[in-house]
Formats: sequence, structure tokens, C-alpha cells
Amino acid sequence: MHAAEYRALMLRAYAEEPVAFTSTVAERMPLPLAWWAARVAEHAQPTEMVFGALVEGRLVGVAGLRFSERERTRHKAFLYGLYVAPPSRGQGIARALVEAVLAQEGATPGTRIVQLGVMQPNAPALRLYASCGFRPFGTEPHAIRVGERFVSIIHMWCDVGSPAA
Ligand SMILES: CC(C)(COP(=O)(O)OP(=O)(O)OC[C@H]1O[C@@H](n2cnc3c(N)ncnc32)[C@H](O)[C@@H]1OP(=O)(O)O)[C@@H](O)C(=O)NCCC(=O)NCCS
Repeated sequence: MHAAEYRALMLRAYAEEPVAFTSTVAERMPLPLAWWAARVAEHAQPTEMVFGALVEGRLVGVAGLRFSERERTRHKAFLYGLYVAPPSRGQGIARALVEAVLAQEGATPGTRIVQLGVMQPNAPALRLYASCGFRPFGTEPHAIRVGERFVSIIHMWCDVGSPAA
């Protein structure tokens, strides 16, 4: 995946969906392209991976998976930055991305839990994650502040039960 294309898609996501993400355009716009390149770079033993969905060669959807590196939390990973561009929604792209993330977690030795956070008003995302096997384990009140408004985050988890764990 090209870092510049990933950067452009995520900046669009932060701008158009301000209540779906913790990150903002103001935070991410100044970061050098190398920061985005590091996220999408391929490694033999990655600490994070970004999955992309292409339509006619153009990047229209993404999802990130960050592995925990600490000895006692290495069985967990975090799903972040799920976004599908509006013209490509409603076609199963987000579901395919989440399934790819879960398959990766299941195939990575020693890992089995995927966690994520969803803003409370995000009904489409909550429904998607629930249908992919995620269960809520807590609500964080006033988790982020968007202007004068506080928004709660629902924390969810999914155990893919890696046979290699
Ligand atoms: C949420 C989002 C990723 C869904 O992408 P998508 O490719 O349109 O989703 P899919 O077509 O794969 O739909 C999968 C499931 O998601 C749920 N879903 C998707 N869009 C929905 C909507 N508008 N209303 C209710 N449920 C919806 C449904 O359960 C759907 O399954 P179904 O079609 O069998 O009913 C997309 O709307 C998006 O990028 N939103 C803005 C960013 C965001 O909220 N990211 C998540 C941050 S936690």
C-alpha cells in the first residue's frame, strides 16, 4: 500500500467523520510521510499491520491492527482506523477488512484477542463489530471531547482462540 494514498484516505476520514475517530486532521496532517510509511511498511515480525481494500486499483477502505509488545499482553492486539470511503459503503468491504484482521490475529502465533473502541453514537460500526463476533466489555464515559461535546467509547473484544497460542 502506498503511504501517500493511505495518508490521504485517513485525513479524509478524520475530516468527514470527526466523531468516529480519536485522531484529528490537526494532529495527523503535520506528520511526515515517513510516519505513514512506517505504518504500512511490511516487516517479517510486524508490530502493526494495515489492511487495504482496493476498487479498480484505488484504495477505498482500510483497517489497522496493532500487536501488543509487552510480555504479559502479547496475546492481545488492537483494531484501529477502520474506514470505508462513502461511495464504496454498503458492499461488505468493512466486514471483509474486519474478517481479515481477525484471520491475521488467529494466524499469528501467541495472539488471540482483538480489542477495539467505538464511539457510542456509531451504530453502523457497533452493528458491524457485533456481527463479526465482538462483545462489549465496558463503556468509558467522556472518553473523547469533540468541541464542547463529550463522547463515550464502548470497548469491545473478540477471542479468535489462536490454535498456536
Ligand atoms: C462503519 C463503516 C466502516 C462500514 O463500512 P461498510 O463497508 O459500509 O460496511 P459493510 O458493507 O461491510 O457492512 C457490514 C455490516 O456493518 C453494519 N452496517 C454498515 N453500514 C451500516 C449502516 N449505515 N447502518 C447500520 N448498520 C450498518 C451492518 O451490520 C452490515 O451488515 P449487513 O449489511 O449484513 O447488515 C463505514 O460506514 C465507515 O467508514 N464509517 C465511518 C468511519 C467509522 O465509523 N469507522 C469505525 C470506527 S470504530
